[in-house]
Amino acid sequence: MILDVNSLSKSYLQGPKKIEVIKDLNLKVEKGKTLAILGQSGSGKSTLLSLLSGLDQPEGGNIKLDGVELSSLEEKDLTNLRAQKIGIIFQNFHLLPHLNALENIALSLEILKKDNAKEEALKWIEKVGLLDRKDHFPDQLSGGEKQRIAIARALAIGPDIILADEPSGSLDEGTGNKVMNLIFGLVKEEGSTLILVTHNKELAKECERTVKLVGGKLEEV
Ligand SMILES: Nc1ncnc2c1ncn2[C@@H]1O[C@H](COP(=O)(O)OP(=O)(O)O)[C@@H](O)[C@H]1O
Ligand SMILES: [Mg+2]
Repeated sequence: MILDVNSLSKSYLQGPKKIEVIKDLNLKVEKGKTLAILGQSGSGKSTLLSLLSGLDQPEGGNIKLDGVELSSLEEKDLTNLRAQKIGIIFQNFHLLPHLNALENIALSLEILKKDNAKEEALKWIEKVGLLDRKDHFPDQLSGGEKQRIAIARALAIGPDIILADEPSGSLDEGTGNKVMNLIFGLVKEEGSTLILVTHNKELAKECERTVKLVGGKLEEV
């Protein structure tokens, strides 16, 4: 079991009102499987992914990643675990603006103290078809290109799990489809575990299992 989530809860204060976004949520994901999470806008999909990635802390319940309970880790160990085991792909790419395309990919490998970071990054930029853009900075790349660099960055570390939050959400349909095909192709090639948040039912069908976030809980679809 790569991911084992039990009785997870998270709420936010909106003014004086407390809204329970995640409520007694359970989820188990086996290694190498692909899971789509559907849900309306505002249903808590991004909140759930930030809890799963350890970027945000739950109020209740627990998350075990490959047997390790995230809440048992100190900040430093959690950061290390994230760098080693979790590949995150965001809707808005989150590339570092002052690093070029190749450096953005290499950084995630350098953090892991890999001595062949540059070569690995080159291998991955080629895999996503952007070797000829390696010296470009993010603001010199199109949306689709930025996302391909972000995909290479997420996969280059050989993550145990890939968390993708509406990765084609800010792209036009044609570019979005290409980006999604790239993700599905690479995930298959690498045998990665994927959790894909999307509101697109067609995309969800590409995953082995689909669940829907409703009322803070996951329902099978
Ligand atoms: N930092 C925050 N502070 C207060 N409310 C938040 C915060 N983040 C998200 N929310 C609220 O939680 C709900 C779920 O948000 P989100 O997880 O972004 O949903 P989704 O990704 O499914 O669109 C929304 O009502 C949103 O306004
Ligand atoms: Mg969201």
